[in-house]
Amino acid sequence: MPEYDAVIFDLDGTLTDSQPGIFACTEYALRKMGLPVPEEKVLRRFLGPPLAESYMRYCGMTEEQAAYATDLYRERYIPIGWKENRVYPRIRALLSALKARGVYLAVATGKPQHTSVDILRYFGLLPYLDAVAGPDNRDLHADKAELIRRVLPAGKKAVMVGDIAGDVKGAQDCGIDSIAALYGYGDDGELLAQGPTWAAETPQALCDILCPGMDAPKGFFITLEGGDGCGKSTQAAALEKRLTDYGYAVRRTREPGGCPIAEQIRGIVLSREDGGMTAETEALLFAAARAQHLKDVILPAVAAGQIVLCDRFVDSSLVYQGVARGLGVEWVEAINRPAFRGGMPDATIYLRMSHVEAMRRRMAVSDPDRIEQAGERFHASTEEAYEALARRYPDRIIPIDAAQAPDKVTDDAFTALYARMVERGVL
Ligand code: TYD
Repeated sequence: MPEYDAVIFDLDGTLTDSQPGIFACTEYALRKMGLPVPEEKVLRRFLGPPLAESYMRYCGMTEEQAAYATDLYRERYIPIGWKENRVYPRIRALLSALKARGVYLAVATGKPQHTSVDILRYFGLLPYLDAVAGPDNRDLHADKAELIRRVLPAGKKAVMVGDIAGDVKGAQDCGIDSIAALYGYGDDGELLAQGPTWAAETPQALCDILCPGMDAPKGFFITLEGGDGCGKSTQAAALEKRLTDYGYAVRRTREPGGCPIAEQIRGIVLSREDGGMTAETEALLFAAARAQHLKDVILPAVAAGQIVLCDRFVDSSLVYQGVARGLGVEWVEAINRPAFRGGMPDATIYLRMSHVEAMRRRMAVSDPDRIEQAGERFHASTEEAYEALARRYPDRIIPIDAAQAPDKVTDDAFTALYARMVERGVL
């Protein structure tokens, strides 16, 4: 197998799966024009070729109507649609490994240049690339060979990776090898008939062709912590989406619970009827649920290279049972041995919010459970205890200002997490 020292990638259907955004925006334009939305098989043909062309070909529009439909498409694509996109699994690790081997990396795409750069930046791929070529306002119809030539370095053995026949043809016109990404949107028959040098059925197969012997994916254990009402559930969902869109395999879970035995314990420990439960019983139940959850879910998922995102973990016990209930941090550490011996998180997002603000938000939305019903002193001491933990474990615990707008909280938390993951080679 030849070693390439330059790799040029197509974007949509090769590095990222942009189907959700493209479908939604295509439909948006059709609905606004009062036209029927074609079936999925037809919508799939919109992925790749210029938009106006597809509107004319598959929806029977005139050139004028197609131009209007394109404007409507952009009305949704520019604020929202471009983010409805997902990096294929393993692609981030592939780019990183190739870059580490000194390979020149570029993108040549039919998507407008500035949009492509925005997408590559948002999804954290831009830092791996030496060049990006897409049509700009002057040459919206530039063909693939022309785009490839713009980024093709002299004197290197190059290969083009793409998911439609036009990508392979473009590579042939430039006299370079090509790899057909069969996992993308192109018709496999057409793509193979064009005669690519190689074909990759999956992103992993692409890694095997371009960078044999790459490391297996590394797991990472993230926990989310904070007082009741700090917005943890919203942030857990948002972070799960950001990580998944970045191409990571995410296993989202929660405590108390996360596996059948621990979920049963959750029922007991959070029930509003157990007003007579001793603090020790409560702490032991949380620890028991955690021991099972670690063994059944967290450790196996991390070992399999997944990103575990867990809503609350042992810090909650240190704070709520150790400090707020007054059992002592050392005793709580002792009953949580499975966590402290080989089960600690790689990173903890601490959603920092004053207990007064958290209480205000909590009262506005929900029916409090047994622990949430505890008095103000209890919640004030959880806040202090979280602050003390953050000072004690500065390398693990990342405090994030949770009183900001929810999107800003997600951005801050994700940026900090991703930086840490890159540092540890979790790609
Ligand atoms: P939950 O419904 O998960 O609340 P939240 O959305 O705030 O996480 O209930 C968890 C409650 O249990 C919460 O009040 C904190 C408490 N808890 C402990 O006291 N100790 C623990 O170890 C854990 C995991 C949770």
